Amino acid sequence: MALHVLSHPLGAHVLTHLRDHTTKPALFRTLSYQISLLLALEATRDLTTHEKSIETPMEQTTGYVLATPLVVVPILRAGLGMLQPFHDTFPDVSVGYVGLERDHETAVARSYYCKLPPLGGKRVIVVDPMLATGGSAVQAVNMIKGAGGTDIVFVCIVAAPEGAALMQQSHPEVPIHAGALDRELNGRKYILPGLGDFGDRLYGT
Ligand code: PRP
Ligand code: URA
Repeated sequence: MALHVLSHPLGAHVLTHLRDHTTKPALFRTLSYQISLLLALEATRDLTTHEKSIETPMEQTTGYVLATPLVVVPILRAGLGMLQPFHDTFPDVSVGYVGLERDHETAVARSYYCKLPPLGGKRVIVVDPMLATGGSAVQAVNMIKGAGGTDIVFVCIVAAPEGAALMQQSHPEVPIHAGALDRELNGRKYILPGLGDFGDRLYGT
């Protein structure tokens, strides 16, 4: 399995403003859109295409169109902050939802919702901004595999080494695309330096 960390300078710029504790929810949502768009392009770089014959205003030529249908699965609720750029960039994408919430004391994620479209033969892109202990990501991928998903990619904005390691151990064939690989988790299983609670900052809660 590969961990790919975004190397575009715009990614570093956007992430710095996301990390800044003075950034308010409206700007936070815009920045989330921007970095998720960069990550969406990385996570789809290897998609297959097939030839398509077309006529330009000048002559006939052969172009290429996407051949693999896409499903995006945001992990509720913070994953919703990464969904829109996938919709805007890949208009035919289908969307599934997995609801997981970490217990405030134990940091263990509890599943409360799952609605997935047919997944066979499709690239399934799971999006969740924070890969902390990895418990949520591992559970989400378990559910997606249980529903028939085989070509799965995980996309996050910030990854902790602990979460990346758990994903590598549990789902070694699932590539991870991250905006940054941070230092460590603190005692409450929050990422350092991180950006705090993504869902709270996204929704002003
Ligand atoms: C956050 C985040 C991930 C999870 C990561 O969600 O969006 O889903 O924590 O932590 P983990 O890797 O240790 O599982 P949270 O459970 O706080 O729910 P929310 O999105 O509803 O805020
Ligand atoms: N969830 C978050 O929103 N932030 C963290 O640092 C860890 C889990």
